[in-house]
Amino acid sequence: MKCVIVSNRLPVTVVEKDGKMEFARSSGGLATGLDSLKVPGEKHWLGWAGWQAVPAERRKIRARLKKLGLYPVFLTPEHIHNYYEGYSNSTLWPLCHYFLNYMSCNKDYWRSYCEVNELFCREAMKIIEPGDQVWIHDYQLMLLPGMIRARCPEVSIGYFHHIPFPSYEMFRYLPEREEILRGLLGADLIGFHVHNYMRHFISTVYRVLGMECRLDEVILDNRAVRIDAFPMGINYDLYHGVSDLPDVCEKADELRRLAGDSKIVLSVDRLDYSKGLLPRLEAYASFLKNHPEYREKVTMIMIVVPSRDKVDIYAGLKTRIDELVGAINGAHATVNWNPVHYFYRCFDFEELAAVYSIADIALVTPIRDGMNLVAKEYLAAKRDKPGVLILSEMAGAAADLDQAISVNPADRWQIEEALLKALKMTVKQQKNALAVMQQSLARKNVACWANDFMGELRQVTERNLEMN
Ligand code: UDP
Ligand code: G6P
Repeated sequence: MKCVIVSNRLPVTVVEKDGKMEFARSSGGLATGLDSLKVPGEKHWLGWAGWQAVPAERRKIRARLKKLGLYPVFLTPEHIHNYYEGYSNSTLWPLCHYFLNYMSCNKDYWRSYCEVNELFCREAMKIIEPGDQVWIHDYQLMLLPGMIRARCPEVSIGYFHHIPFPSYEMFRYLPEREEILRGLLGADLIGFHVHNYMRHFISTVYRVLGMECRLDEVILDNRAVRIDAFPMGINYDLYHGVSDLPDVCEKADELRRLAGDSKIVLSVDRLDYSKGLLPRLEAYASFLKNHPEYREKVTMIMIVVPSRDKVDIYAGLKTRIDELVGAINGAHATVNWNPVHYFYRCFDFEELAAVYSIADIALVTPIRDGMNLVAKEYLAAKRDKPGVLILSEMAGAAADLDQAISVNPADRWQIEEALLKALKMTVKQQKNALAVMQQSLARKNVACWANDFMGELRQVTERNLEMN
């Protein structure tokens, strides 16, 4: 029996460097989280490697990735525009994150979304054999469970939704709401990070499709689809163990020098409006203005990972961040101090571990976020050093991390207060809160998340096969 993982993005992205093709680690929680996963038996992973390859390059990419158990799906420029930037990231992403005013609906996007889900289905069917477990990930492939089920009715199919699932009142706006829900119901098990998303999904199925729904099941003619919450964890030991490595210590020293003796406030996200980057910067600006006693005493290290920058809203957001960082530094910088050190690039694992280990405060304030693994990684990497997590109540991670300072990300005043509180916390208070959260993260790690999901998938599939 194999485990066949299918996601839009592979954990490895092909990039161009000095005119040559290179293989880099993908960013985003799905890729980083699943990459370290060990499953019993063989693991095969099918997805897009982020590169518009010509046929000669395709052979090379295929051969190179096959050694890692990865199977690339190649997308055309039209797919990238209409399926990836279009339906996935200009229709579904804003809808699921409650940004209705950013949502655009377009029939070309939808056509391409259907076409690419079909393409993934054809590629997946080359690998899938009866008895395999197929685990499909995320909103880019919501039609795929139904497509695979139609071709291979007896295969075991799980789907995990890594982003929020909105309430029925939002989801009903989607012109293709019925097709999307029916596509998902091809799975045996559908997982969400938290109970609220699961509840929203069941009530949406009931209200849109009028199907019989129980607390955690949707009843179909010949089988039932189980719906459950599985909060995703991290590879705890990896982050917890890394800060002693010589490379990481060296990088930590370099980064520490940027901030001198001041306290470091860390901000790490992909470029995304759902991450609340502008309100966070505005809150920090207002903190510096209202608390001049902290000037030269705190420094923000802000890492923004380039993401989806061909989509207009993302490109516009980048411009606004550049302007706001410039305005904050322009207004407050002194000869010895920059209030914000801004990096617009992806940090590699060692650099990221280094910056986690030296940050006194992690300021994680998404407006909506399915989970947010950065918050969990920060806590793990602190080891026995003090540190404070300020966390938006709108992140899925908030359900697991009740010792963090919780904030409403839209409330600038509350973020200012949280910064003040964090700066005044004693080392003992910080370490106590950290220890509680670290214990729970160590227990509920990413392996445990995957085992829970796969175990339940096995059970539900067996029951569904018996019903037939
Ligand atoms: N990440 C990274 N380099 C960076 C910033 C982030 O590799 O410079 C990784 C980080 O380790 C985390 C992921 O990107 O695992 C972000 O996941 P998260 O769930 O926080 O947000 P997402 O990007 O999936 O919305
Ligand atoms: C989020 C989504 C993932 C996606 C990642 C990076 O984590 O849930 O599905 O892969 O963002 O976004 P990208 O568009 O670069 O794949």
